[in-house]
Amino acid sequence: MVQKSRLDDVAVTKYLQTCDIPVEEFKMEPFTLVIFGGTGDLSRKKLLPALYHLSQKNELPEHFSILSLGGSQLEEEQYRALIERALRGSEEVCFSEEKWAGFRRHLFYLSGNLEEEGTYQRLCSRLDQMVVPTQEGRKDVVYYMALPPQTTPTVVNLLHGHGLCRGPLDTKIIVEKPFGKDLSSAAQLNRLLTGAFDERQIYRIDHYLGKETVQNIIFFRFSNSIFEQIWNHRYIDNVQITVAEDMGIDSRARFYEQAGVIRDIVQNHILQLIGLIAMEPPVGFEADFIRDEKTKVFRSLHPMREEKVDRFTVIGQYGPGKINGKEVPGYRQEKGISTDSNTATFFAGAFYIANWRWAGVPFYVRTGKRMTRRITEIAIQFDQPPLKLFGRTCDVLEPNLLLLTIQPEEKISLRFGVKVPRMANQIYPIDMKFSYQETFQAPPSPAYERLVLDCLKGDLTLFVRQDQIEAMWEAVDPIISCWENQPPKNFPNYAAGTWGPAEASQLLEQEGRRWITD
Ligand code: BG6
Repeated sequence: MVQKSRLDDVAVTKYLQTCDIPVEEFKMEPFTLVIFGGTGDLSRKKLLPALYHLSQKNELPEHFSILSLGGSQLEEEQYRALIERALRGSEEVCFSEEKWAGFRRHLFYLSGNLEEEGTYQRLCSRLDQMVVPTQEGRKDVVYYMALPPQTTPTVVNLLHGHGLCRGPLDTKIIVEKPFGKDLSSAAQLNRLLTGAFDERQIYRIDHYLGKETVQNIIFFRFSNSIFEQIWNHRYIDNVQITVAEDMGIDSRARFYEQAGVIRDIVQNHILQLIGLIAMEPPVGFEADFIRDEKTKVFRSLHPMREEKVDRFTVIGQYGPGKINGKEVPGYRQEKGISTDSNTATFFAGAFYIANWRWAGVPFYVRTGKRMTRRITEIAIQFDQPPLKLFGRTCDVLEPNLLLLTIQPEEKISLRFGVKVPRMANQIYPIDMKFSYQETFQAPPSPAYERLVLDCLKGDLTLFVRQDQIEAMWEAVDPIISCWENQPPKNFPNYAAGTWGPAEASQLLEQEGRRWITD
C-alpha cells in the first residue's frame, strides 16, 4: 500500500514544475534569545542584522525578546543605539525607520562580567520577567554563544550551576565555531555541553551550511542522475575548493591570533564543503541521515603524516599590498598584531578520501585573507578524453569543469569545448550557466537567518554533530601541530591582493594541474 502511494506521488510530480519535500506547517511561538557577547563583531555584523531582517519580513512571532549580555557598561538605550548604528551601516540590511521602531522594543541589554555568579542571578530574574510562555505553556529560551571559544565553557558551567539549562525553561544552545582548538579540547567542550544539555538541545553552528548555494549541493547531486553516474574517481580528475577573502581581520586580532586560518576556515567551512561533495546518498532527508553520511567522509579522510605536511600543504601570511587599487597593510601591521606574529592567514593543501568512490582523487583546498578578490567556489574537474583526436593545437584541451560558485555571485556552470566556426580544429571552452539571481530574481537568503529560524523550529539538519567535529579535528590536528612546531621563516610570503604564496601554485603544478578559480 505504502509502495503504491509512493509510485502515485512520483507520477504526479512528473507533471509539476517543482517538487516539494513535504514540510510541516510550523507556527512560530514566543521565544527569548539570550546573546552572550551581544556587543561583539558577530552580533553586530551578522546576528542582529539577520534577526532584524526576519522581523522585517514578519517571520518572527508577535512575542519575542532578544536579551544581549556583554561586558560593556551600557544602558539599554545606549545598546539599542549601538545596534541601530550597526544596522544602518550594514550592507545586508535595508534599513526602515518604521521597522526599526518596532524591532527595538524587542531588544534588551544586561551588562555584566560573564565569569561572575551575580550576572547569572540577574539573568535569572530578567528571564523571569520577560519570558512569555507558548500556547502549551513552554518557556522557550535560546542561548547564543557569540563569544571567543575560550569563554564558552565558563558560561555553560555557570548556566548549568544556576539551573538555567534543563528544568523550568525549555532551552537550546547555539555554539559558534571553532569548537575547541583541537581534538582533545573539542571532546572536553562536548563533555561539558552534554553534561549541561541534552544532545537535542545543542546546535553547533557552521554558517556555511546555512548558505543557499551550499544547501543546493545536496539537491543538485541527488536530484540529477546525469551527474551522479560520473561523480567518482573513474571520471573526476580532481576537486578544488577556494574560499578566498579580500578582507583582512577587521577588529578580530585577538581571536585570529589564537585561531589562524586552519582553525578558522579549514577545520569547519572547507571540510563541510568536502563532506557535501563527497558524501554518499543519504537514506532519507532527515538530519541524522545526512549527518551520518558526512561523518563517514570525515572519517575516511586520509590522515596526513607529519613528514607529508610539508609536501601536501602550504601556509602563508599576507604582507602589505593593494586591493581594488587601495593600499592595505600587512598582517603584522594590523591593529593588535605583533610585528613578529607567525599566525598563518593562508592555507592550501591536498586532501584524499580513502573510500571506493574517491580513492586517488585529490581534493585541493585553498583559503586566505586579503586575496585578490572574494570568491568561494568548488571546481570539479573531469578527466580528459582517452584519445587525442584533434591535431597539435589541441594537445592540451581545457578540461570539462563543473563550477559551483557559492559567492559572491551564486551560480552553477558547466564548461565544455565547442568547435570554433570556420576555423580548422579550433576548440573553444564555453560555460553553460545557471544563476540564482537571473532564474529566481532574488538573492538567496542570508545564512544566519535560515539557521536561527531552523533552531527556533528545532530542525538540526544544518547543524554539526559532535562526531563530525571530532573527525574534522582529527584531519587537521597533525597539520596544525606540524606547522606550529616549525613555523616558516619566510613570513610574510604573499602580498595582499594576490592569490597567495607561489608554493600554492606549485602544489598543483608538480602534479600537472593548475588552480581553476582566478
Ligand atoms: C567566519 C570566519 O567563520 O567566516 C571569518 O571566522 C570569515 O574569518 C568568515 O571572514 C567568512 O564568511 P563568509 O560568509 O563571508 O564567507
